[in-house]
Amino acid sequence: MRVELREITKRFGSFTANDSISLTVEPGQIHCLLGENGAGKSTLMNVVFGLLHPDHGEILLDGEPVRFANSGEAVRRGIGMVHQHFMLVPVFSVAENVVLGFEPTKSLNRLDHDKARREIRELSERYGLDVDPDAVVETLPVGIQQRVEILKALSHDARLLILDEPTAVLTPQEIDALMGIMRSLAAAGTSILFITHKLKEVRAVADVITVIRQGRVIDSVSPETSEPDLAALMVGRSVSLTVAKDAVEVGGSSLELRDVVVRDDRGLVAVDHVSLSVREGEIVALAGVQGNGQTELAEAIAGMRHVESGQIVLGGRDITNRSPREILDEGLGHVPEDRHRDGLVLSMSISDNLVLNTPRRAPFARRGTRQLSAVADNARDLVQRFDIRTTGIDASASSLSGGNQQKVIVARELSRPLVAFMASQPTRGLDVGSIEYVHRQIVAERNAGRGVLIISSELDEVLALGDRIAVMYAGRITGVVDSSTSREDIGLLMAGAGREH
Ligand SMILES: Nc1ncnc2c1ncn2[C@@H]1O[C@H](COP(=O)(O)OP(=O)(O)O)[C@@H](O)[C@H]1O
Ligand SMILES: [Mg+2]
Repeated sequence: MRVELREITKRFGSFTANDSISLTVEPGQIHCLLGENGAGKSTLMNVVFGLLHPDHGEILLDGEPVRFANSGEAVRRGIGMVHQHFMLVPVFSVAENVVLGFEPTKSLNRLDHDKARREIRELSERYGLDVDPDAVVETLPVGIQQRVEILKALSHDARLLILDEPTAVLTPQEIDALMGIMRSLAAAGTSILFITHKLKEVRAVADVITVIRQGRVIDSVSPETSEPDLAALMVGRSVSLTVAKDAVEVGGSSLELRDVVVRDDRGLVAVDHVSLSVREGEIVALAGVQGNGQTELAEAIAGMRHVESGQIVLGGRDITNRSPREILDEGLGHVPEDRHRDGLVLSMSISDNLVLNTPRRAPFARRGTRQLSAVADNARDLVQRFDIRTTGIDASASSLSGGNQQKVIVARELSRPLVAFMASQPTRGLDVGSIEYVHRQIVAERNAGRGVLIISSELDEVLALGDRIAVMYAGRITGVVDSSTSREDIGLLMAGAGREH
């Protein structure tokens, strides 16, 4: 199907999320929409799928203008969408999930079910999806669950498939498989709109790349465009994608995990006898697909989650099950995964947030009296050095964009004396330019002799930063490898294929 968007504008209040966007997807084309977090990609896709109504502009399908009142109408016109977050019912079978939702008035009767199974088998075969219609969704690996989403999107004769950041939760092998599926769909004539902010992926699979920034189309380019050029289009200035890392002499143990066991919120073992040592002057990157125990492990190290057994040692001192405050005072710098919940006090000013962990220490307090000028000086200095975009240091943390909130936390944690530094998803939500800056700061911390533990589900980040890479799968470390290891080998470990130890 030929899909033409003409001057689509979508506002939320006074904010323009899509600003007169025009683009055309040809039949059988894989058209990638590349843009930073917040660029307006999902908004545009939701407009195409009938979930949002544009304030201006039109959509033409095979030359005919259409106007959708809801997504049901978009589906009937041959559009299928796989959302950023999965929308499957875990306890239902694949077939039940595929039938569900489109015809809410009908119950899941036998007829629907058999028809769905036949359709799934047929689509599965045609596009190499390889999904068992009778499998219960929650028993399937994430990569297969996503295929179910794709099947569901295709099951109404979709001729345009929208995939909104479909690779965020996949291993490298699952990403390769997904790209294979996209190629065979396109070869059979399905048009594909593929949304991502990852440069490698667009270059691997796109026929055309449209870059959007701040709600506007910046350019449409070919997949031969280099990664640095794509990054520059995305961000609006040239950026360095690699982190310069000199060899540093590695010292003694900085942060050590000894046989640590931690349970998740449901009481299940999430961290299963993990041992890992981070030495002074070393970055250990903990890789893994989200949800394999990394979050629980980071929380346990920071004192935010109970350690059931084992030991956590910071600079030679046992910090197991100490309070978060005590652990920070012992010298753990910590950038938490959930910055709203654990990293900031949103109602407080930026300057107060920048001294959140050292409010009673010199130079910010003397003999119990707060030194407001020292707090303000510190804030001005960090705002400038970390390029925190704000109207002023007295503005509340809640007034900042997500990326700038993250910079406040990183700036604060790196500006006090540390024994070790731990960051969970340190650059999630940051633009490429800010990622460059934060990565350089992390490397500087390592060069200054601190042990650094980075927990990241972005393989690019893991490879860019890690001196050693530990891979976590199902609560265990499946391997610790050096940074020259291939993406494929790390991918295998991420899928649990490594040796256990
Ligand atoms: N329902 C909404 N109400 C207000 N603002 C929104 C809404 N949805 C998205 N936005 C804003 O629009 C911008 C673009 O968001 P989005 O389309 O989700 O970006 P992307 O998918 O490129 O990351 C963001 O600044 C976001 O905060
Ligand atoms: Mg999005």
